[in-house]
Amino acid sequence: MQVGIAADHGGLALKTSIKNEFKAIQWQDFGTSSDESVDYPDYAQVLCKAILNEEIERGILICGTGIGISIAANRFKGIRAALCHDAFTAEMARRHNDANVLALGGRVLDLEMAFRIVRLFLDTEFEGGRHQRRVQKIEQI
Ligand code: RB5
Repeated sequence: MQVGIAADHGGLALKTSIKNEFKAIQWQDFGTSSDESVDYPDYAQVLCKAILNEEIERGILICGTGIGISIAANRFKGIRAALCHDAFTAEMARRHNDANVLALGGRVLDLEMAFRIVRLFLDTEFEGGRHQRRVQKIEQI
């Protein structure tokens, strides 16, 4: 699976840690790559466009809290960004919501939890069925 990852300065450290932990993934990294202050909507935009253009299948977006970057990502029709702080919501985001973007808070999560959430996001299948109908209704809004 082609997976993208992007972060602002508040998510850079966690982005680096995730890439180091999940070495088997061929990450498409959309930045940022320095501690300089940047604007999270720019990073949400570049990654979401790559999903909508089918360059990548899923993506992970990280800012300080995960809030701003998830709000920005969900402005794109076809993007279903889930901000997850625990394993249950990460699993449900895939099983029930078919989330194609995982948003994380780099200043919120410890590494162990962040890695658990990423693993669930990458490995959990969408259940379909009644959830497919609901996801379709989201797309029609
Ligand atoms: C940047 O300081 C911070 O506001 C950003 O990373 C994010 O937390 C916004 O939601």
